[in-house]
Formats: sequence, structure tokens, C-alpha cells
Amino acid sequence: MAQKETQNEKFSTRVISEKFGKKDVHGAIAMPIYRNAAFEFPDSESIAAAFQYKEEVASHTYTRITNPSVENLERKIKAASGSENVMMLASGMAAISNTFLSIAYAGGNIVASPHLFGNTFSLFKFTLAAFGVEVRFVNTDDLEEIASAIDENTCAFFCELITNPHLEIADLPEISKILKARNVPMIVDTTIIPWCGFDARKAGVDIEVVSTTKYISGGATTIGGAILDYGTFDWSFNKRLETVEKTDAMSPFSFKLKREIARNIGAAMDPEAAYLQALGMESLQLRFEKMSASACQLARFLSTQHKKVVKTGYPKLESSHYKKISDTLFTGNPGAMLTFSLESKEACYKFMNRLQIIRRATNLFDNKTLIIHPESTIYGTFSTEMKKLMGIEDNLMRLSVGLEDVADLQADIIQALEGL
Ligand SMILES: Cc1ncc(COP(=O)(O)O)c(C=O)c1O
Repeated sequence: MAQKETQNEKFSTRVISEKFGKKDVHGAIAMPIYRNAAFEFPDSESIAAAFQYKEEVASHTYTRITNPSVENLERKIKAASGSENVMMLASGMAAISNTFLSIAYAGGNIVASPHLFGNTFSLFKFTLAAFGVEVRFVNTDDLEEIASAIDENTCAFFCELITNPHLEIADLPEISKILKARNVPMIVDTTIIPWCGFDARKAGVDIEVVSTTKYISGGATTIGGAILDYGTFDWSFNKRLETVEKTDAMSPFSFKLKREIARNIGAAMDPEAAYLQALGMESLQLRFEKMSASACQLARFLSTQHKKVVKTGYPKLESSHYKKISDTLFTGNPGAMLTFSLESKEACYKFMNRLQIIRRATNLFDNKTLIIHPESTIYGTFSTEMKKLMGIEDNLMRLSVGLEDVADLQADIIQALEGL
């Protein structure tokens, strides 16, 4: 592996030149798809050694536990991020649920922003609540509110790196100081900015969860999720993990996750998804930089050039309350998602129906530019009260900017606005 100097330096070289765990028997230049459930051993002693973790280089035994194609993707993400341990799972939601199933307990609590992806909100508010885990929603702009929500049963602080669709950015380095003083781990969903644009460890993040369905999959090819452990938290402060073994290779969190939780839940990543996402990793920096530059250009256009646009959200705009922290945390442009509001929900529908190039679809960071009206789709089944708590407005649209020529995207937006 090439030396990691700063997060961005040699990023693509590190990812592309990361070696396989074991040499491929045919010398394949891309890790093949190992589409099989079980792996054979030459004798009883070696299969016993594999099951008892007594080998020098671990073998694969069963694809629900580990698989060479999945391991290859994990190695690339480790090289990209500088994290100590990576675990791939079947989806971003599998990454988030497996993380909290590893550290939360009945009577424990999670301090979190209420501005979350809909299923994460539902996981906290309904699924985990049924097992006695409390979620304490806080305003992440208010450091005192965060500090006073923490007690001896706080399992974690959690937020998304840039909230969606609100585009808020928590001051992670400042929050990290509070959490370190109280021995609470910081867990952040960083789906919105990949490792070439954000150094999680430097910002104080202990555990990162990512929907690799987005930037990583390389054009919305597959669903996937990643959990990254930076090895920075002392888990003896977590009541669930205080007695879990710490090995040289794994923190108690990764040990619990890999040896118990993930294999019991069984949301393993499919080897074909791992193959496609490993390819996606190799072009990640290139795609991220182009998409983000186009998003920045469109945000500037919408915010200054068109009178039918009531409000535009993008962290790099001077009008954003989060510009300063965005410039501090991120290298280059803050990603390929922007929001804008028209005068009403009806105007949004009419605008979206006129678009010719931009697609009406959910998902983020496809190669294709996608637009959605969050209030009536992602949050469509939530009650009015819940939408209010989550701050979801009905005149707002979310745009995920793809790889098309930006002039064509701008022309599509102009023709649709002019038809209103
Ligand atoms: C910020 C964020 N986290 C998590 C998820 C869930 O990821 P997945 O759909 O891969 O389960 C999404 C999906 O849109 C998301 O936007």
C-alpha cells in the first residue's frame, strides 16, 4: 500500500494499488467475484485452526462471515480512510443498525440530531426504542444542549456529516472535545462526503458509517454499507463492551461486531456488489470532484440568477450558516447534493414534471442527476408532527448532481423554471 500522508494525497494511488489479502492463483488484476457460500480445507486440523482463529493469515470459511471479494473492498476502504478496521454489510442501513446493535443496551441512550435519513430516524425512534434504548434528540448547533443530554448511560453521539435535506454541519472537532471529556464515542454517517474530501479521524470521529450505495458504488450499481473503526475509543467505558476482549487486530467494538453481531444478524454483503463497489472505489476521487464542482456551479446559479427560486442550500454559498465549518472540515467542494425551494409544493411538482435530462428518482450520487421532493416521498408516510420535528418543508427539492455536462443540466433547470 502506498504511504498515507494526508487524507487526499495519493488517494487514488492508495486505493488502486492496494493488494489482495492473498495472491490470486491466476494472477487476476481485478479481484474475481467469489460467488460461493463455503470454502474447502485440505484437512481437519486446518479447518479447526480457521474456526479457532489460529492461522497467521485468516482463511475464509463461509461467505456470511467473510469472503475474498468483500475483503478486497474492505482493504481498499481501509487504504482510503486510514481506519483500523472496516466491515462491509448489505446496505447503509445494515451498517447503521449493526453498529448500534453492537453498543446499545436496554436503559442506554443515544444522543443524536433529529435531522436524519428517514430510516435511521425510524430505527432510533421505533425499532431500538422497543428494546429499551432511548434516543435523545438535540440541536447539534448547541454544544451546551449536547453536553447536558449526556449521562452515564449514553452509548454514543450520532449525526450525519451534512444533514439531508437541511444541509446542517455539526462542528465535529468542538463536539469531540465534549465527548472525549465524558467518554462517549462519536459515530457519524459520512455517506455525503467520501474519504477524499473529509478526514474523519482528524475531526474526532471514532466510528464512521457509510451507505456505499451512493458515491462508492460507482453509478448506483449496487446497495452496500460500511462500518469503519478508527480504533480511537476506549470501549471499557461502554457498559455493553467493558468486558469484551481487545486484541492487537481489533478493538472491543470491532470484535463484538465481527465475531457476534454481524454474523447473527446475517446482513452480509453480496460478493458481486463488493466487486462492483471495489471498481467504484478506483474512480471515486475523479467522480466526486467533478460532481461536486458541478453542484457548486449550479448552486451559485440558482442562488443568484433566478427569481423564481426562493432559497438555495449548499454549504459553500456565502448565505450558508455552515460555510465556515464546511471550509474547515472538507477539502474542496462540499459534495454533490444541493437543495432549492420554490414558492409552493405545486410549483415544485410542476417544475419537476418539466425536466428533460434530470431524472425524478430517489438515491444520491448516481452518475445521473436526480431530483426528489423529500416531503412527499422519503418522508411521505411520516405524520405532520414528525415532519415538523424533522424540519421537512413542502416547497423544497433535493438535487443530486451527476456527471452530465453542467451546461446541459443548467439549461434543463432554466427551461423547467421558465415554464412555471
Ligand atoms: C445519509 C444516508 N444514510 C444512510 C442511508 C441508507 O443507505 P442504504 O439505502 O444503502 O441502506 C441513506 C440512503 O439514502 C442516506 O442518504
